[in-house]
Amino acid sequence: MKADAPIAIFDSGVGGLTVAREVNRALPHEEIIYLGDTARVPYGSKSAATVKRFAGECVEFLLHFRPKLVIIACNTASATALDSLDEMVDVPLWGVIEPGARAALGASDLRRIGVIGTRATVKSGAYARAVAALDKGATVFSRACPLFVPLVEEGRTEGPVVKAVAQEYLSPVLEQEIDTLILGCTHYPVLKPVLADIAGAAVTLIDSAETTATAAREVLAARGEERAGDASPKPRFFVTDVIEDFERVGRNIWPDMAGSTERVEIGRASLR
Ligand code: DGL
Repeated sequence: MKADAPIAIFDSGVGGLTVAREVNRALPHEEIIYLGDTARVPYGSKSAATVKRFAGECVEFLLHFRPKLVIIACNTASATALDSLDEMVDVPLWGVIEPGARAALGASDLRRIGVIGTRATVKSGAYARAVAALDKGATVFSRACPLFVPLVEEGRTEGPVVKAVAQEYLSPVLEQEIDTLILGCTHYPVLKPVLADIAGAAVTLIDSAETTATAAREVLAARGEERAGDASPKPRFFVTDVIEDFERVGRNIWPDMAGSTERVEIGRASLR
């Protein structure tokens, strides 16, 4: 039965838990299978070819669970690998770019939209393309923020260092008089309080975690594929490297996750 099948979510590491958590909030009765490719994070500084290969191996692993939906929580993988992966699989495969672009357009009166993300995401131009596909008259201003991911991974989500880095990254985008800013990376929702403070009340922050979760709920409802009953199945978390590091950072996003993580080998050799 499709309705009983899990929702599979993957990311390069721990950050995609922001998406998994929102999916869990929106759809509390669904079983979530999460894979963090922690052995190979970060994806954001790697070439598109490498990200495509890694993402393909993540999807291959998740397909063993026969999911009804696979969500690529990683913006970098969504931006560079979604199209090629979509041809490879016969289950619905979603990225976070289109839901984020759609939500941004919904929030923007001026149609001047900022996007912050990893170098690979910004270089791909995926958000600008997704916005243009929905509204040719909107303008997108992008900025790579490579220091944000290591700061969040180190648990630094506030304080003077984070503020100074955020100020430097955001200033040129804010100078473009945007009214909407897409947080185009899994890790950035954790920095929301600092980013909101710097961006000011006139700029709406778009969190692709929330928008993707809302879209998942709507689509499953429309297809009649929601899991029945009141049970809240325990999520299963998989990582490709050290469990303790994943859970140490992950607890900030999913507080009661301890003890739910398993370590796996993925890639061609291990899947034979
Ligand atoms: N998950 C990545 C993203 O959303 C950030 C971390 C990385 O560079 O792998 O773009």
